[in-house]
This record gives sequence, C-alpha cells and structure tokens, in this order.
Amino acid sequence: MENELQRLKKEAEEALHAISERAHLEEFRVKFLGRKGLFSRTMKQLGQVAKEERPRLGQLANAIKKEVDELFHEKKEVISTGSNTAAQDLDLSLPGRTLSCGKLHPITQVMEEICSVFEGMGFAVAEGPDVETDHYNFEALNIPKHHPARDMHDTFYVSESILLRTHTSPMQARIMEDKEPPLRYIAPGKVYRCDSDITHTPMFHQVEGFLVDRDVSFADLKGVLTSFTHRMFKKDLPLRFRPSFFPFTEPSAEVDIACVICGGSGCRVCKRTGWLEILGSGLIDPEVLKMVGYDPDEYSGFAFGLGVERIAMLKYGIDDIRLYYENDLRFLNQF
Ligand code: DAH
Repeated sequence: MENELQRLKKEAEEALHAISERAHLEEFRVKFLGRKGLFSRTMKQLGQVAKEERPRLGQLANAIKKEVDELFHEKKEVISTGSNTAAQDLDLSLPGRTLSCGKLHPITQVMEEICSVFEGMGFAVAEGPDVETDHYNFEALNIPKHHPARDMHDTFYVSESILLRTHTSPMQARIMEDKEPPLRYIAPGKVYRCDSDITHTPMFHQVEGFLVDRDVSFADLKGVLTSFTHRMFKKDLPLRFRPSFFPFTEPSAEVDIACVICGGSGCRVCKRTGWLEILGSGLIDPEVLKMVGYDPDEYSGFAFGLGVERIAMLKYGIDDIRLYYENDLRFLNQF
C-alpha cells in the first residue's frame, strides 16, 4: 500500500505538471482528489491492512493527499491569474503597435529651410508683431493714407490705426529705426489679408529680407537672390528680374524662376509662359531710409519679400494652397 501511495503521488504530480488549461484542472480534481477519485479508492483499502500498520499508513495517505491538494491549488492559482494563459494568447508574430510621432508642418519646414539658406549667407533672423500699427505697415514704407497701393493689401483693421500686418515689410522700418548700418536681416512670420481662393488664404507666411550698407547695388540683390533660389530648389534654375512697382523700393523688380514643372518650355502650372513668380524686391527707396533717419547719400540697401506657401507649392508641385490648412494627416504626413 505504501508503494501504491508513492506511485499515485508521482502520477498526480506529473499529471498536474502537464496541465496548461483551466478545463483540465477539473478533470484532474475529479480523477485524483474527488470522492470517487484515486486517492479515496486507495484509502478505502486501509481496512484491509494489518491493524498495527493502519495508523502509520493512514497518516501517510493523509499527508500525501494534502500535499497533492496543495500542489493542485497552487496550479489553479497560476492558471487563473493568467500568467500562463497570457503567455499562450500572445502572438509574437503580430506586428507591434507603432507610436505615432508629431512632426513639423510643411510650411514650418519650408520656412525653416528658407531661413537657414539666408543664415548661411550671414543674415540675422528677427521677428515682429502680427498686430501692427498703420504707421509701420504703411506710412513708414512710403504708403501714406489714401495711397492707391493700400487697396492691394485687403487689410483687416483692428481700429483706425491698428491692423493685422499685411506683409512682413514693417520689420524693415522697425529694425532700421533701432539699429545702425551695416544691417543684414530676414524677418519670417505670419501675415493677414482678407482674401481666400485656391491661391490665397486669409493668413499666410512671408519672409522679408533686407541689407543696408555703403554702396549696395542692384547687382548685390541679384547675387543674393540667385544664390538663394539655387540652394532652395537644389537646381540652377534661370532667374528673370521683371520691372515692377512697390512704394518702398526704387527701382523694383518681381523675380521669376524658370518653371519647376516644365523647365521653361510652357505648361499648365506656368500658364504656358515658362516662368513662375517667386518674390518681390528692389533697392530700398531713399524716402524709407530718410524716415528712419539714415542719410540716403551715405547708405543704400536692397529688400525682398517672399511668400512661403508659394515657394512650398512650387517646391512640392501643389496647386491648391488650402491643402496646407485643412489638417488632413494623409496630406501632411507626406512631408
Ligand atoms: N511686401 C510686399 C508684399 O507683400 C513684398 C515685397 C516686395 C517686399 C518688394 C519687399 C520688396 O521687401 O522689396 O507684396
């Protein structure tokens, strides 16, 4: 009988060890520990052993059954806390969940790229207020009240003398007023105009740039802008300086680059002209220099202003500016 008990113990231990699912636990309990189970059956045979042996074997049988019972409960605990099932339900071949990571808006990326090209040419970066005075936005730039050029600006007025800046050019006057030449600055930022269609949004971005020193000529402006365009578009595209008018520059020019899509042969994007306008520029008008207290006989300078959305559209071949502001991640994630 003693051998039978030890053998049963071993069999129970092995059976328990092999169990990995909850369903098999109950089968085990019935088979070994139940009222009609193997332990009960063996213990019933106690009646047949010699009287003197009975107490010792009885105690042994109880001790072994108790031990198996404890092992059974331990196993039950392990399975129900899930440490086993969790491992089984885990499919290590499944792809992990990727963490989505925020990134810079394409307009911010292009703006930073523009700034870094000019910084590489020695320009310093300055930022000014979006809510501007009529004085800096217009008067200091040689655009007096009732000047027809004001019409082009579709201004959002806050009050008679306060407005949302319509361009970044006020930064020319603000910086010149504050500092002495030589100056080499760019001023990136948001500008606002009451206008909205496929090439205009009520808020957009510009980068203003200007340089003031002795003997600054139009050749310097051409050199800087040509070098900027080649670096920005990573191609030596031909440039065209087309005569234009701005009240704060004289002479003034709008700059075109050979169409980035067709290379100049003419397509839908360049309206068959082969050219795309990218910025306005010119030599700073002597009137503007006088208003900030510089002597135009001593100093001269050039200035330019470019639209960031426009550059970004040309760089990436995008024909609707509103795409940049619809917050569609399928669009934004491509940059
Ligand atoms: N401020 C002009 C605009 O928004 C752009 C511009 C033209 C800026 C010529 C300049 C410049 O500095 O010289 O339309």
